[in-house]
Amino acid sequence: MREWKKNREMMKSHFDSDAFAGEESDQTLGMKQPPLEIEPLPDSRIIDLPESSAAELTEQNIYKCFLKRKSRRKYSEESISLKELSYMLWATQGLKRIVPAYSMTGKATLRTVPSAGARHTFETYLAVNDVTGLESGIYRYSALNHNIVFLFKIADMKKKLTEAAVGQSYVGRAPVIFLWACKPYLGEWRYKGESHKAMLLDAGHVCQNLYLAAESLNLGTVAIAAYSQNKVDELLRLDGNDEFIVYLAPVGKVENAYRHQHD
Ligand SMILES: Cc1cc2nc3c(=O)[nH]c(=O)nc-3n(C[C@H](O)[C@H](O)[C@H](O)COP(=O)(O)O)c2cc1C
Repeated sequence: MREWKKNREMMKSHFDSDAFAGEESDQTLGMKQPPLEIEPLPDSRIIDLPESSAAELTEQNIYKCFLKRKSRRKYSEESISLKELSYMLWATQGLKRIVPAYSMTGKATLRTVPSAGARHTFETYLAVNDVTGLESGIYRYSALNHNIVFLFKIADMKKKLTEAAVGQSYVGRAPVIFLWACKPYLGEWRYKGESHKAMLLDAGHVCQNLYLAAESLNLGTVAIAAYSQNKVDELLRLDGNDEFIVYLAPVGKVENAYRHQHD
């Protein structure tokens, strides 16, 4: 068999046969649930986000959003507002409720996106180039508090992001880039080896909500899976093992979403 075909196994589901039978999950073993999200360091600069409401949408008709949706790689020079950013963060990871976990120990969050077993294993990082009122740099979203924490600046960020996205310059140039980092232990704690497929499926829902949210704001995005794992993780200072990027998406203003519908 060609070596890379072995990856197909990861696409399959073994919930009935339990490929990892004989090994208890850490949850079953009574190990502490990992935190729902990363806490900011003391003295972090935290920026509260405005409440999201449907009022600011330029297109409220979801049918039209589906029709308009496409991958957009050309953005105007305009900056993105904090309200628009807030809406997209809410649409992609926004918290609705904290609930006791469905089974056994722990707690879970219910959000604007589904997640296998409500594990919600992602942190959302933002590379901000041009958002009104925000210094350029790297931020992390707190779904629990609906705010963002400023992490650090990166010199030549546009160039480095483009390099990390294997030369896709629309990634580096966009006013804001969403980068979703997976923390696999949040899924593994309950589902052991069955969690990995589910966590990647979860990422698809998140990005699809970004596509639709962007269309409803006359913004555009494109899902990006072609990137250099090491370069992106290094840029975001992630350890690449307990936390690493699985998906990213630049977002920018679309000059005339309807006019360019068939670009
Ligand atoms: C998982 C996934 C990964 C993708 N990766 C990239 C990418 O790295 N670069 C890119 O330009 N487009 C990427 N795309 C966008 C696709 O090329 C695009 O969805 C496809 O051509 C269909 O076009 P549409 O989205 O406009 O319907 C990706 C899409 C998905 C769903």
